[in-house]
Amino acid sequence: MKEKAGENFFLRDVKMLREQAKKSLDDGAVTSDYQDVKQSIELLQSALATEIVCVLRYTMNSISVAGISSKSVGEEFAEHAKDEREHMMMIAERIDQLGGDPDFDPKNLASRSATEYGSGGSLVDMVKANLVAERIAIEHYRDLIKYFHDKDPTTRHMMEKILADEEDHATDMHDLLVAHQGKPMLDE
Ligand SMILES: [Fe+2]
Ligand SMILES: [Fe+2]
Repeated sequence: MKEKAGENFFLRDVKMLREQAKKSLDDGAVTSDYQDVKQSIELLQSALATEIVCVLRYTMNSISVAGISSKSVGEEFAEHAKDEREHMMMIAERIDQLGGDPDFDPKNLASRSATEYGSGGSLVDMVKANLVAERIAIEHYRDLIKYFHDKDPTTRHMMEKILADEEDHATDMHDLLVAHQGKPMLDE
């Protein structure tokens, strides 16, 4: 069955994670030191979940796209999956340093299900879904960088490095979309 980019569960996950993080940022009125660390950990858990979803999605895409149409695009997806895994590890280690337990529990990635990974649709569908997801992650991480600004420069530097990678990923997906669809922008 063909999966439309707009109905993609992965996108719903990333969107939902960003919305949750935004809500948590709004709750930031209580600023005792304890609350700050707790909130920082909670925000990093949302980034961790975003990265886990990205690892899984790019891994799945790398296998299915290589099977249907393009080995080189498959390799590019696999390269992104590797980057997302590095991001996942960096964030998990930072959560640990701040005294939290990185949350790898699959049930906390709310809408993940077998159908989501059964078929990623056409090559163009996959590229579009990944481009939209990268853009949401970029917005999400910009919010986090603002939050960590002076409060926690170490976490801010880490998130800035990850953000730069996500911007590269978005550029890569955009280039693939132009190459394979012949149009520069998303329809939706
Ligand atoms: Fe990432
Ligand atoms: Fe990315």
